[in-house]
Amino acid sequence: MIAIGNDHAAVELKNEIVEYLKEKGIEYKDFGCGEGEKCDYPNAAEVVCKAVVNGEAEKAILICGTGVGISIAANKVKGIRAACCSDYFSAKYTRLHNDANVLCFGARVVGAGLAKELVDVFLNTEFEGGRHARRVDLIRQMEENF
Ligand code: RB5
Repeated sequence: MIAIGNDHAAVELKNEIVEYLKEKGIEYKDFGCGEGEKCDYPNAAEVVCKAVVNGEAEKAILICGTGVGISIAANKVKGIRAACCSDYFSAKYTRLHNDANVLCFGARVVGAGLAKELVDVFLNTEFEGGRHARRVDLIRQMEENF
């Protein structure tokens, strides 16, 4: 299952991504806020990241205005590697090299077409492992140290 969440700045794009996941037959759970609701991005990040670290969700998508605030908040959760991406290459390589488990982007930054490409490549790219696994382990070690 893919968890998805958003703040009030990203309702429209979240809805488009939900429709896209439906079309693709990808199982998802929408934790985000709807039209007319106010939702602070740290709260949206927290509920979605909880679903990832407790194993309910395999990966997640988080959207706010810039994608930055929600990625900063998501990365406070132990076990989360959230990447804020507004280009295809970064969304691909953050899976290959960082084993990112949360994709973030900004509704005020990317259009729906690019957002769907980012989702596709993020969900369909496997972690390369090897030398990158050692580096991801160093990140885990940092979580223990601080
Ligand atoms: C909300 O207005 C906005 O600050 C938020 O969506 C996000 O862009 C923060 O990083």
